Amino acid sequence: MQNSQTLNESLPKHIAVIMDGNGRWAKSRGKPRVFGHKRGVAAVRKTITTAARLHIKAITLFAFSSENWRRPEEEVGLLMELFITVLTSEVKKLHKNNLRLRVIGDKSRFNDRLQQKIAEAEELTSENTGMVINIAANYGGKWDITQAVQKVASRVASGDITPQDIEEQTIAQYLTMSDLDDVDLLIRTSGECRISNFMLWQMAYAEMYFTEEHWPEFNEDSLVKAIAWFMNRERRFGCTGEQIKALMEEN
Ligand code: IPE
Ligand code: IPE
Ligand code: MG
Repeated sequence: MQNSQTLNESLPKHIAVIMDGNGRWAKSRGKPRVFGHKRGVAAVRKTITTAARLHIKAITLFAFSSENWRRPEEEVGLLMELFITVLTSEVKKLHKNNLRLRVIGDKSRFNDRLQQKIAEAEELTSENTGMVINIAANYGGKWDITQAVQKVASRVASGDITPQDIEEQTIAQYLTMSDLDDVDLLIRTSGECRISNFMLWQMAYAEMYFTEEHWPEFNEDSLVKAIAWFMNRERRFGCTGEQIKALMEEN
């Protein structure tokens, strides 16, 4: 039997989630896709609460990819509205729980109202010391690396560094989330086994967990199961979902 300190140390520090399958989940119930997106919000809440109780350091949720603009205009519009509604209704609660919220991605393409809401939420929670929640919105892993390289290139152009000075760290420092540990565990729901241009650099060594569950069905038990799988993959010891749940009670 492992003691809780060993268990705590073996938890993933940074979890990333590709929240997939909202549309299929809704369709299988004879409902429009947007119904699935709305239900997906409850799964986000459960995931955040569970991760925070386990004192996970950071969680990054893929909410909207740079490719998702290709979806029908109506769906994109509704996703943006949902994003604003959720930001407005949930931020105070996150703040009260000492959680820090950040939105990563190219925010310049969002409308003014959404950009304003994002800035307010980030500002309100910026001093909090608990778990960091990154919402990846209009995010793409290739975009992230490209914007970092642009910054490095400016330094070369200004003569501050030479091309030979460029090391991995030179680029890594300009990536989004450079202040956080790299991703330890990636979870993708709904059976698809691909990265879909999510964090590329930061997931270089992530363990990848794929589950058939659709995102609206994802709950506390699903996350606990994924974390137990991760800890057993790491071969540190055979730990069970029960032990992780006990840890949640202790923490
Ligand atoms: C994930 O669910 C949510 C977003 C990408 C915004 P999908 O909308 O991709 O649902 P499926 O994959 O079509 O079922
Ligand atoms: C990835 O899901 C993006 C998000 C979960 C926000 P998609 O459903 O958009 O990915 P693809 O297009 O099937 O790869
Ligand atoms: Mg999908």
